Amino acid sequence: MSVPLLDLRAQHATIRDDVVAAVMRVVDSQQFILGEAVERLEREVAALSRTRFAIGCANGTDALLLALRALDVGRGDEVITTPFTFFATAGTIHNVGATPVFVDIDPVTFNILPAAAAAARTAKSKAVIPVDLFGQMAPIEQVRVALRGLPTIEDAAQSIGARRSIDGEWRMAGEAATIGTFSFFPSKNLGGYGDGGMIVTQDEGLATRLKRLRVHGGAKQYFHDEVGYNSRLDALQAAVLSAKLPHLAGWSARRRENAAYYDRALADVSDIRLPVVDGANESIFNQYTMRAERRDALQAFLKQKGIGQAIYYPLPLHLQPCFAYLGYKEGSCPEAERAAREVLSIPIYPELTHAQLDEVIGAIRAFYGR
Ligand SMILES: Cc1ncc(COP(=O)(O)O)c(C=O)c1O
Repeated sequence: MSVPLLDLRAQHATIRDDVVAAVMRVVDSQQFILGEAVERLEREVAALSRTRFAIGCANGTDALLLALRALDVGRGDEVITTPFTFFATAGTIHNVGATPVFVDIDPVTFNILPAAAAAARTAKSKAVIPVDLFGQMAPIEQVRVALRGLPTIEDAAQSIGARRSIDGEWRMAGEAATIGTFSFFPSKNLGGYGDGGMIVTQDEGLATRLKRLRVHGGAKQYFHDEVGYNSRLDALQAAVLSAKLPHLAGWSARRRENAAYYDRALADVSDIRLPVVDGANESIFNQYTMRAERRDALQAFLKQKGIGQAIYYPLPLHLQPCFAYLGYKEGSCPEAERAAREVLSIPIYPELTHAQLDEVIGAIRAFYGR
C-alpha cells in the first residue's frame, strides 16, 4: 500500500458540500476581492489567535513582507532570524532591502535559540523573526526578553492553532508577538484552495498601516500615503477557509494522535530520533519530522516502497547561494546544518488511517531491520 505525504482529496471529501456551498455564495454575490467573506475570516482568525486585529493578504510570504514594511524595516537594517525555515522568512527580509542575520537553532525543537538571537543583536537590529517550525511555537516570550525592545514578527505559517503556555496561560500562535503571520498555502494545516495569508496584531496603529499597505498604501482609493502592494485576499479563498476553520481543532487533535501513534510504535528504533515537543507547547504537527541515521538511504527506501516523505529543509538559508554575499560559511550555524543532514518528515495528515500509519511504521522498521 502506498501512503502519500499528504492527501488533500481525502480531506476535501469530508467537507465538500460545505465548501462548495460557501464558494457558490461568493460566486452568486460576485464580490471577489476583500468584502464580507474576507472580513468574516479576519474576525474568525482574530478570535482563534486571541488578537485584536487580523488582516487578510495574498499569501504567507506577503504577510511577512507587509509586517516588515509596517515596522519600517528597510535599507541598512538587520533582522535576526533562523536559517532552518522555509525560504520566505529570509527572502522577504532581503526584499525590503534589509539584511538577514542568521542565528543557530535549538537541536531539540529546531526553533531559534533566544540566547543566540540576543548575541547577534547590533545597533542595526530592527526586528526578530522567530519561526514556529513544523507546528510548534518558538519560545516567543524568551525571544522577547532576550531582545527586549525589538519588535517580534512570529512566522506562524506552519502553526495556526498551536499554543504555548506562557506564565501559566495558554497563548496562541501569533498572539504574543508584535505581529504574527499565517500562510494558507494548500498543504498547510489550514490550507485554502489556492494561495492566501493573514497577519495578526494587538496594535491598532500597525493594523491600520497593514490594511493600507496591502492595497497600494492608500487608505482612500486613488490617494496614496505610501507605496504599498497589491496583496489582497481573494473572497473565494476566504470562504473556503471559513468553511474549513470549524474543523481545525479536530484536525489538529488527529495530527497529535497520529504523532503519538508513531511515537509509541517507533520508540525502540534507536536509529531514529523522534520529534520532541517542548513541555510548554501544544504542537499542531504540521510536520512529523524525525532525525534519522543514514537519512538519505532511508528516504530512498521509503520512496521505493511508495511512502511519502520529504526533507524540510535540505540546505539552511545561511548557505543558500543567493545569500553568499552575507559571508556565512559552513559551520556558522552547526545545529541548523546538522538538522539539514538528518531530518526526514513522514505522513502526519489527519485523515491517515491506522493501516496507513502501520504501513509507514513497518517500512521504517524494515529499513533498520527492527
Ligand atoms: C515558515 C514559512 N514561512 C513563510 C511561508 C510562506 O507562505 P506562502 O507559501 O503562503 O507564501 C511558508 C510556507 O510556504 C512557511 O512554511
